[in-house]
Amino acid sequence: MPRRDNTLIRPMVSEDLACITELEGSLFPFPWKKQDFMAELLFPGALCKVVIMGQRPIAYLCSRDVADGIEILKIAVHPDCRHRGIARTLIQETFIRAAASDWPLIFLEVAQNNTAAQAFYRNLGFTSTGIRKQYYPDGTDAINMIKTLKEES
Ligand SMILES: CC(C)(COP(=O)(O)OP(=O)(O)OC[C@H]1O[C@@H](n2cnc3c(N)ncnc32)[C@H](O)[C@@H]1OP(=O)(O)O)[C@@H](O)C(=O)NCCC(=O)NCCS
Repeated sequence: MPRRDNTLIRPMVSEDLACITELEGSLFPFPWKKQDFMAELLFPGALCKVVIMGQRPIAYLCSRDVADGIEILKIAVHPDCRHRGIARTLIQETFIRAAASDWPLIFLEVAQNNTAAQAFYRNLGFTSTGIRKQYYPDGTDAINMIKTLKEES
């Protein structure tokens, strides 16, 4: 169903990948290629969503079900469409999905120098749990972040 801002969120399909890989290539220093997204679409327990405005993908999220929660692998919004709550809506859908399965945790990694994304995640209640040294091919460290949806009883 279209949202009030004329965007539509739906599962990603292979026909989206030309636009998505173009956007991905413009945003990330080590972008996923078309075959990486294809593999993710086929991976058991993976869920990839795309946000459509007009006919074009303007944002996407890839996540995977893991042992006791969901791992966010990718989230991105076209620079012209930022600060409208689009990424927040995508992540909140993940929270709802995790809660429905009674999973307590959402995990992700973010580059240490990506302070905008870290601020975005903190705003949504994620906290840092550690550092993965030289996680990226250029030697940049990654910060592990986690959101706890439900405290262990
Ligand atoms: C990070 C990103 C996904 C945020 O997308 P977005 O749709 O603009 O985010 P939202 O509008 O949903 O923001 C929600 C909240 O996060 C925070 N936030 C978002 N972008 C921020 C920024 N650049 N700096 C600081 N805080 C930010 C704000 O608190 C915002 O709430 P507010 O607008 O009410 O103040 C987007 O900037 C992006 O695509 N970046 C490039 C790709 C990337 O780095 N992805 C993450 C890889 S781990």
